[in-house]
Amino acid sequence: MSLLDILTFPDTFLKKTARPVEQIDGELQAIIDRMSDTMYQAPGVGLAAVQVGLDKSLLVYDVADKEDGRDLHVLINPRILAQEGQILSENEGCLSVPDFRADVTRSANILVEGVDRDGKPLRFEAEGFMAIVLQHEIDHLNGTLFIDRISALKRQLYTRRVKKYLKHQGE
Ligand code: NI
Repeated sequence: MSLLDILTFPDTFLKKTARPVEQIDGELQAIIDRMSDTMYQAPGVGLAAVQVGLDKSLLVYDVADKEDGRDLHVLINPRILAQEGQILSENEGCLSVPDFRADVTRSANILVEGVDRDGKPLRFEAEGFMAIVLQHEIDHLNGTLFIDRISALKRQLYTRRVKKYLKHQGE
């Protein structure tokens, strides 16, 4: 199974709002499999289709403890219906924002709906780390990166570093 390339900041595709998935078929299942392989290989706890250059409202995540084995979840056309409370997501990171971490304030509890890989409707509550991961991944499907949710000063530190790096690459 071939892995997918993960786009990184400042790729403008990451600012895209993903288009809703209209049909769940074998082609989509194959994409889901490649996305989950790519996520595990990275390794990461979540991956949104936009991150691999696919304009689809689709994400995969696995927040299980490593000792417990894998617990893959697929969420298609996800939507946060309600959110409450606040939680500090310490040292949040992203496969599309390499070599940078920052604290992000997230909602502590969320109510999410979507459909699974077989098209079965899902509606569930999430809290803690799972709520953080889902908010992060659903953000991706709306063209938002976690660095869009930190202070401008901290974001500048990172964007300057990336620009400097890209400039040196071009030399
Ligand atoms: Ni991310």
